[in-house]
Amino acid sequence: MSKTTRRDFLKTTGTLAAMSTLPLSMVELAFADASRNFTFAYISDAHIQHISGTKFVRNWDRGLIRAVAETNLLVPKPEFVVFGGDLAQLGTKEELDHGAELLSKLNYKMYCVMGEHDYYLDLGEYWSKLYGPQHYSWDHRGVHFVVLNSILTYDDWTFNRWPSAAQRMLEMAGLDNPNGSPFMVGEKQREWLKADLAKVQKDTPIVVFSHSPLQKIYKGWNFWTEDADEVQAILEPYDRVNVVYGHVHQIQYNQIANISFNSVMATAWPWPYPQSYAQAEHALPKLTIPMNRADPFHERDATGWQFIDVNTGRVALRYNLYNNTSRTVAFNPKTGRPEDSLFQDPARMIDPQVHY
Ligand SMILES: [Fe+2]
Ligand SMILES: [Fe+2]
Repeated sequence: MSKTTRRDFLKTTGTLAAMSTLPLSMVELAFADASRNFTFAYISDAHIQHISGTKFVRNWDRGLIRAVAETNLLVPKPEFVVFGGDLAQLGTKEELDHGAELLSKLNYKMYCVMGEHDYYLDLGEYWSKLYGPQHYSWDHRGVHFVVLNSILTYDDWTFNRWPSAAQRMLEMAGLDNPNGSPFMVGEKQREWLKADLAKVQKDTPIVVFSHSPLQKIYKGWNFWTEDADEVQAILEPYDRVNVVYGHVHQIQYNQIANISFNSVMATAWPWPYPQSYAQAEHALPKLTIPMNRADPFHERDATGWQFIDVNTGRVALRYNLYNNTSRTVAFNPKTGRPEDSLFQDPARMIDPQVHY
C-alpha cells in the first residue's frame, strides 16, 4: 500500500506530465481513509491501422507505444490499466494482433472495452479470443467496476444489410456516414447489468466503462447510445455512479440524475465538436466547454491524458493536454455536476483544496 499523499502523487506525476506527449489517463480513487486510495491508468482509441505487409500507420502506432511506455514508468504504479476501445481501425486480425503486441508491453493487468472499430468486421470474434468477455464487472478496493459493450446495434443492420463483412465494417467506421446505425447496449446486457448491480450496495461507488457515451449527444456522428435512457434507469438508484467513455476523442462531461459522465482522450487523433458541424441536430451537454486545440499541425494535437480522482465517489478529471493548458473537470458538490474549474469558475483556481 502506498503511503504517498495525493499532493506528492500529483507532484510526481506532474513531472511525468511535463515529459508526456501522450493521452493516457491516470486515475486516483481517493477515499476518506487514505489507505484505500489507489490508481489506475486509462488508454483509449488507438485506431491501429494496417497499410500492407508489416506496415501500419506510424502516427497511430506511436500514440499507443508512448502511452504504454509512460504507463509503465508511473509512480506510484497503477493497479491496473483499462483500454477503452477502438484498438483497431478496421477490425482486422493484423490490426488487432499488432495492437495487442503493443499493449502486451504493459506491466499491469489490463481490462479491455469493445469499440466499434474492433467489432464490425467479425462481430467481435477475434477480439474476444484476445481479451475474453465483452461485458463483465469486478470489485476493487470498495469500488464496483463494470465494462459494457455499448456499440451493438439492430440485428437487421448487422446481419441483413451488407454484402460483406468488410463492407459492414466500413459503413460503421465513418464518423458521419448516414449508412451507419445507432449504437446500443441491448436487452441482454441490460438484464445482465440489472442482475450484476443487484449484488451492489446503493452507497458503493460505481464506475462504468463504455466505448460510446451512455447518453445521447449527437446522433449524426454516433456520439449516441440508442438505449442510453434504459441503461441510465438501471444505474439511477445508486448514490454515486460514474460513466467513463472513449469514442468521442475529446473532452465532454455531463450530469444526469446521480450519474456523472466524463470522456477520455484518444491516443490517435481528436474529433471536432458537434457544434462545429453546421447541421447538428443535437449538441453537447450545456456545461461542456470545448477543449483548446494546441496546434492542428502537431501530430499529438488535442490528445492528452488525465488523472481521475473519485474522492467521495465522484470523478474529477485533470486533462493534461500536450503542449497546451491543462484542464480540470471536477464534480462540484454545490451544483451537483461536473464543472471545468479553469473555464467555468476561475475563482476555484486559487483554492488549494480544488486546484491541485
Ligand atoms: Fe475512436
Ligand atoms: Fe469508436
